Amino acid sequence: MLDDRTFAIKGDICWSKSRTEFASVHDGYLVCLDGISKGVFAELPERYAGIKVIDQSGRLVIPGMTDIHIHAPQYAFRGLGMNLELLDWLNTHTFPEESKYRDAAYADKAYEIFSDDLLHSPTTRAVVFGTMHVGATEALMDKLERSGLKTYVGKVSMDRNSPDYLCEGSAEEALADVERWLDDCEAKHYVNTRPILTPRFTPTCSDALMAGLGRIREERGVPLQSHLSENLSEIDWVHELCPWSSCYGQTYERFGHLSGDGACVMAHCNYSTDEEVSILREHGVFVAHCPQSNAQLSSGIAPVRRYLDLGMNVGLGTDVAGGATLSMFRAAADAVAVSKLRWRVVDQSLAPLSTEEAFWLATVGGGSFFGRVGSFDEGYELDALVLDDSHIRTPLDLGVDDRVARYVYLAEEGGRIVEKYVAGKRAL
Ligand code: GUN
Ligand code: FE
Repeated sequence: MLDDRTFAIKGDICWSKSRTEFASVHDGYLVCLDGISKGVFAELPERYAGIKVIDQSGRLVIPGMTDIHIHAPQYAFRGLGMNLELLDWLNTHTFPEESKYRDAAYADKAYEIFSDDLLHSPTTRAVVFGTMHVGATEALMDKLERSGLKTYVGKVSMDRNSPDYLCEGSAEEALADVERWLDDCEAKHYVNTRPILTPRFTPTCSDALMAGLGRIREERGVPLQSHLSENLSEIDWVHELCPWSSCYGQTYERFGHLSGDGACVMAHCNYSTDEEVSILREHGVFVAHCPQSNAQLSSGIAPVRRYLDLGMNVGLGTDVAGGATLSMFRAAADAVAVSKLRWRVVDQSLAPLSTEEAFWLATVGGGSFFGRVGSFDEGYELDALVLDDSHIRTPLDLGVDDRVARYVYLAEEGGRIVEKYVAGKRAL
């Protein structure tokens, strides 16, 4: 029985052959059966004769992109408050804004805009921070569920070193809210949306809260996301708060937050020590590289080349509103740019990223957090973007690879997402 997730898309198709190389077929066929890719072909194979063909001739067809670190409530003030470093930025701009999500009407309005804009962005999957409020986080999950995008969404946990207006009363209260939220999520039977435990970062989470989240993580098998080694003042603060730790990563590892092989995302890792890197590797932790946020908040530049050379799990995050834009094309372009500055100014032993590598990070690298996602190779869940690049004008007669490379840098200059598929389902 053929379902609506069975079709072929005809167009100029490009995906990652390897971490460093594009594969592409001009005027080819991408075949999807039951939401799963059967591969890309120059001619439609006989065995698929009669399949519905979606004719997108002349348009680019690429894998959907996965944003593995983004703050939904911060979308409201994107592009504002860019003149401070992390800890002052949190106190001055972020915490006051997040406190507004106590109000269901505000949350509804703000998350409607966020969900709609995310749907129209290059992102097909995302790993998302909410706020500490259960009601608002569930409203966000309801909206994302309806969008058809696949997401992990976290109710933030924070019970210390935060202003009274955005701080949970005690670890017990905070953990009870997490349990209630997880029960609600189960009862809602979401298809696209999953909960993810979200201690904001070590400075705002007491040992009791961290221990409780570790317990819940083990009991319920829920993944976990947080921030790690983003900013130098933050790292100093963690050493003061946790004098028993020899690296920041230990302050999560000690409570079982990193275990579960690949079930954890840590954002930034700009200053991870050798010890911290070995802890991240041991647990298969996903590093969310957030180049724009790292630049805007003057945080630093993550040594992504090192993580890739070590075979670690790495993807890209927009980290809105540390980063201003939802665009994963921009995140990929920024990843290349900051890697070049790092190479030139900081450390010539780490070669810069290529465009192909940044594309891989945005698709396969982050997609892997969701399983076999981010490629058109056979067996991958089929997330795809159909792109119109005809308004990014040039007299050059470009091949498919070059058109995609150029789209990464020029998406906002005349690029248009025509259609979007998530696990073979049309979302846009
Ligand atoms: N560390 C703790 N909270 C945050 C946040 O909201 N954004 C960023 N970039 N870093 C954080
Ligand atoms: Fe963040």
